[in-house]
Amino acid sequence: MAQEVRGVIAPGKDEPVRIETVLVPDPGPGEAVVRVQACGVCHTDLHYKQGGINDDFPFLLGHEAAGEVEAVGDGVTDVEPGDFVILNWRAVCGTCRACLRGRPWYCFDTHNAKQKMTLTDGTELSPALGIGAFAEKTLVAAGQCTKVDPAVAPQVAGLLGCGVMAGIGAAINTGNVGRGDTVAVIGCGGVGDAAIAGSHLAGAARIIAVDIDDRKLETARTMGATHTVNSRETDPVEAIRELTGGFGADVVIEAVGRPETYKQAFYARDLAGTVVLVGVPTPEMKLELPLLDVFGRGGALKSSWYGDCLPSRDFPMLIDLHLQGRLDLGAFVTETIQLDEVEKAFERMHHGDVLRSVVVL
Ligand code: APR
Ligand code: ZN
Ligand code: ZN
Repeated sequence: MAQEVRGVIAPGKDEPVRIETVLVPDPGPGEAVVRVQACGVCHTDLHYKQGGINDDFPFLLGHEAAGEVEAVGDGVTDVEPGDFVILNWRAVCGTCRACLRGRPWYCFDTHNAKQKMTLTDGTELSPALGIGAFAEKTLVAAGQCTKVDPAVAPQVAGLLGCGVMAGIGAAINTGNVGRGDTVAVIGCGGVGDAAIAGSHLAGAARIIAVDIDDRKLETARTMGATHTVNSRETDPVEAIRELTGGFGADVVIEAVGRPETYKQAFYARDLAGTVVLVGVPTPEMKLELPLLDVFGRGGALKSSWYGDCLPSRDFPMLIDLHLQGRLDLGAFVTETIQLDEVEKAFERMHHGDVLRSVVVL
C-alpha cells in the first residue's frame, strides 16, 4: 500500500516551494523505497524550480541524499532493507554500448523507478534527477542505491550523490590528476572545492584556486589549495603560468560553465595538458577558439559528467577515506536545516553564502 510522507514540491515556474503530502508506492520489481536521512540543497534543484530544466511540474525536489533502505521489490539483490545507502542519479543499465565496452560510467541508458510518486489527488510528480529526496521517503530504482559504511554521518554521505562527487571525480576520474601534478581550478563553489579536495587527495603538488570572490578563495585554501588567484583583479592565465614555471598547469578544471572561463582554462594549461569542463553551460552559450591553438597545444579537452563516477566503485571508497580522516567531506556542510527551510536555503545559495545546506530528517 502506498505510504503518505511529507515532501518539498516545486508547483510551477518560479513559484515558492511548499511542503505537500506525497504518496510513495510500494517498490515494484527492481525498485526500492528509501527512508531519507539527509539531502543537500543543490543548484540543480533551484534550476528545476525556475523551470530551467524542463516544464514537467510539479517536481519533487532533492537529489543529494543518503538514507536507509526500507523495502525492495522483486528481483533486487544488491541492497536489502536496513542497508545504509547513498542515492545516485545514474543507475547504469549494464547492456548499452558503453556498459558493454566496460565503461559503465558513460552508460547511455541510465534508469529510475518505473512507478510514479503522486500527490494525494493523484497528480504525478517528477522527481528531481529521478530521485526526489526532499521527502521522508522516496521511491527509486534499486541501482540508484549504493551501500556504504553506516558509520558516516548521513548529512556528509549524501553530498557524494551529486556536486561533491562531480568535483572529486572531475579531478581524479576525468582529469586523472596524480602525484606531483600541477592543477588549477576555476570557480570554487561546492564543485570546484571538491575538485580541489580530490586533487589534494590524489597527491597534486600545486593546486591553484581561481575565483572572483575572496570568501570562496579562503575556503578553497582549507580544501587544499596551495595558491589562490582573484580573477577580478588578476589575469588568471598569466597568474597560473607564473605559478607553474611559466608553462601552465597539467590539469585545469573549469567549474563555472561559461565560455570566458573555459577559454581561461584552455590557455592556462601546459602544452599537452588536460582541460576538464565540469561546470554546466546553458544552451545559448558559444565558444570560439583558434582551431590552430586547439591543434597546436595538444593534450586533451574533456568534459566530466557527474565526475565520470561509478557509484559502486567510488562511493564506498570515498566514504572509507573520509572515515579514515583523509578526505574531509564534513567541510562541505555549511549548515543543516529542516525540510521546511529549503526555500530559504535557495536564497542563501543564490547569494553565495553557503557551500551546502543539508536537510536532515
Ligand atoms: N571566474 C571565476 N569564478 C567564477 C566566475 C568567473 N567568471 N563566475 C562565477 N565564479 C565562481 C563563483 O564565485 C562561485 O564560487 O564560481 C563558483 C560557482 O560556484 P557555485 O555557484 O556554488 O556552483 P557549484 O555548485 O560549485 O557548481 C559549479 O558546476 O555542476 C556544475 O551546474 C553546476 O555549472 C555549475 C558548476
Ligand atoms: Zn548502460
Ligand atoms: Zn546536484
